[in-house]
Amino acid sequence: MNQEEEIQTQWHKVVQRRSFLKAMGIGTAMLPAGTLLATGVKAAGSAPTRRLTPGDAAVLRFLAAAEIIEADLWQQYNELGGVDGGNPAYVAALQNLDGDMPQYITDNTDDELSHAAFLNAYLASRGAEPVNLDEFRVLPSTQATGARQIRRLTNLRKLVVDTSFYTRYRSEQNPDLGADAAQAVRIVNQPAIPLNDTDTPPNTAQPVPPLTASARRMQAIANTAGFHFGYIEQGGASLYTSMSVKVTDLEVLRIVVSIGGVEVDHFSLWHDKLGNAVAQPLAGVVDPVTGVTFPDLNNPGGELAQTNKILPEPARFIEGLPLVSIIRPSSVANAGAVATIKSFTADLLFEGQSKEFFAKVMALAEAADAAKRRV
Ligand SMILES: [Fe+2]
Ligand SMILES: [Fe+2]
Repeated sequence: MNQEEEIQTQWHKVVQRRSFLKAMGIGTAMLPAGTLLATGVKAAGSAPTRRLTPGDAAVLRFLAAAEIIEADLWQQYNELGGVDGGNPAYVAALQNLDGDMPQYITDNTDDELSHAAFLNAYLASRGAEPVNLDEFRVLPSTQATGARQIRRLTNLRKLVVDTSFYTRYRSEQNPDLGADAAQAVRIVNQPAIPLNDTDTPPNTAQPVPPLTASARRMQAIANTAGFHFGYIEQGGASLYTSMSVKVTDLEVLRIVVSIGGVEVDHFSLWHDKLGNAVAQPLAGVVDPVTGVTFPDLNNPGGELAQTNKILPEPARFIEGLPLVSIIRPSSVANAGAVATIKSFTADLLFEGQSKEFFAKVMALAEAADAAKRRV
């Protein structure tokens, strides 16, 4: 099964699981993109004869690419740590953050698959070219028990996770007005999934606190995943917000804000769960291989650190007006498409990818950032 078929198969599973989609005239959305294009089938609520503006098409194409990338990384997390997760020690370490972590991981994965499939189907339904990154599925899977041995778009085996979102959302400062937020935890060159069964045996017990080197290693990997979930989804929240002001067609705007709202929902969930990695009783885990440390952020705590302050602090937004609780950043420079690809690259999510991959995703990103709302 190739990757496109895989996405379609996963999408069908999502549809079966989530009956609300029936109300959306899903019969059309389930058709392969080529069929929609060939037959001019009308997607729910759209006007098939009306072509998208080039700007709207560019925004939707970049968002489709971002969702394909998100789906690829979430599938890796799901194989190892989801409800049918194949690595018991990883599942147990994730459950030390919250007993429902496997369910949340699986549902987040379903959401990304649905976003990618929907955006591509919508592009095709409006006569625009869908996005396909299959030729770049070249990166190896982890060797750890539970992972399918297929080729990937993204790498989760060595990440530099930007944790500044944690302090940013606890601060009044706004990066769009020039502020820098401090890292909450320093996570450098750290795996977010287990690498192999020697490093982290899949049946290791994962008590709190972890008692053996293998258990500490696995817990540090699961904690890294927790922060990475938050990092990825806050990026999605900012990206969709920045793209929303670029689109012209009201149906496209409805799509961007409706999917963007779910990215915010994802971020909020993970922001809550990741705090348990840096709160008692789990706080204090040190990875015995990398030295990455998850301190107790409640000791001494404070406004910028306290783990249960997960809702956004009102922040500076528009000069001369009061502080307001908002998604930030939302500027094209800090939250747009190019900024997103640069951030993912700095995350090492694309480590090992070809220069052709970077050229393709940057071209999509630059086209999206160049889009302007037509009035
Ligand atoms: Fe998404
Ligand atoms: Fe997402």
